[in-house]
Amino acid sequence: MEVALAVWVTIAIILVTCAWKVMVVVWLRPWRLERILRQQGIPGTPYQLGIRDWGETSGIKERLRHRCHTSSTEFSHDIVPSILPFLQRSVQKYGKCFYTWMGPTPVVNVMDGQLLKEIYSRVYDFGKPHPGGGMELLALGLLSSEGEKWSKHRKILNPAFRLERLKPVLAASTASCMEMMSKWEMLLSQEVSCEVDVLPYIDNLTGDILSRAAFGSCYEEGGLDPARGLETIPAGTVMYRKTYRATRLDPYYLPSDVIIFVPVLLVHHDQQIWGEDAQVFNPKRFSEGVSKASTGQSRLPYLPFSAGPRVCIGQNFALIEAKAVLAKILPRFSMELSPSYPHAPSNLVTIRPQFGAPLILQKL
Ligand SMILES: *[C@@H]1O[C@H](CO)[C@@H](O)[C@H](O)[C@H]1NC(C)=O
Repeated sequence: MEVALAVWVTIAIILVTCAWKVMVVVWLRPWRLERILRQQGIPGTPYQLGIRDWGETSGIKERLRHRCHTSSTEFSHDIVPSILPFLQRSVQKYGKCFYTWMGPTPVVNVMDGQLLKEIYSRVYDFGKPHPGGGMELLALGLLSSEGEKWSKHRKILNPAFRLERLKPVLAASTASCMEMMSKWEMLLSQEVSCEVDVLPYIDNLTGDILSRAAFGSCYEEGGLDPARGLETIPAGTVMYRKTYRATRLDPYYLPSDVIIFVPVLLVHHDQQIWGEDAQVFNPKRFSEGVSKASTGQSRLPYLPFSAGPRVCIGQNFALIEAKAVLAKILPRFSMELSPSYPHAPSNLVTIRPQFGAPLILQKL
């Protein structure tokens, strides 16, 4: 009898403890964090149990994708509503610093130039969250490491990515690009012009250049495994960061366990930073450099490679590669977008055309 009572009491204690832990995770902690954020003057979506800020995002995204896909002839550069619809609406509602929820964890979204500068420069205060799932596979050391480990790895790798050490990238880009173009020329040998989906070629090209520059072999010869090609690694696109301990982000005091997520795409489409034609695809705006192209409203207007000590280590590599490849292709081929191109940019670590990039190629 007494033994049975002891068992029941133990079970009851375990159940109460579990219930309390659940309460803390799903109610008490999020409410406490939300109160602190509000005290700092940061607005955002009120916390609700099972809040679906991000779930809603994907639902809307699917519908918009479909719409983009069916209207193939007209498309605009205003891609934020289809890629980040939820964030877009939140910015309209709350401004340039607000919180959303990823389950019970608040995500502070920052687009304010001054705060961005602070976040990008204080790499030890603002660490990275670990995205989990497939992302961990892509995270080759630098992307996922933190603190001293990150600093040590970065110091070892930095010299290899200095401009003066990147001559092999130029040679590799040229060689790989010549091979790609000879494949295109074969396709064009019978006809004046033809439609080619260039996306798989470009995907292979980036893996090939990397493989040649790093190992002196192209990956068709078995250098790198293309399935794990570095083309899938973000070139400073979206930056997730998480505070590991309470930290002061002047003028905001942020609690720990808050994710900071800098929606770079929104910054790049901001009319206050780029002027009224922010949504117009106009590469000429950069003809006199980035600072002349922007209105001067933000100290960090353009962040394709992120910024601060954690600036993308491959920035120089990528720029050399892009320039070398364009310099080879443009004198030899003319190209225009195929009428069959469906405009449906999707956010797969980097923003990519969801259904390929069919171009009409012609030899010059
Ligand atoms: C890309 O590389 C893979 C692996 O070598 C190859 O099978 C495929 O045909 C290549 N695709 C193009 C479009 O060159």
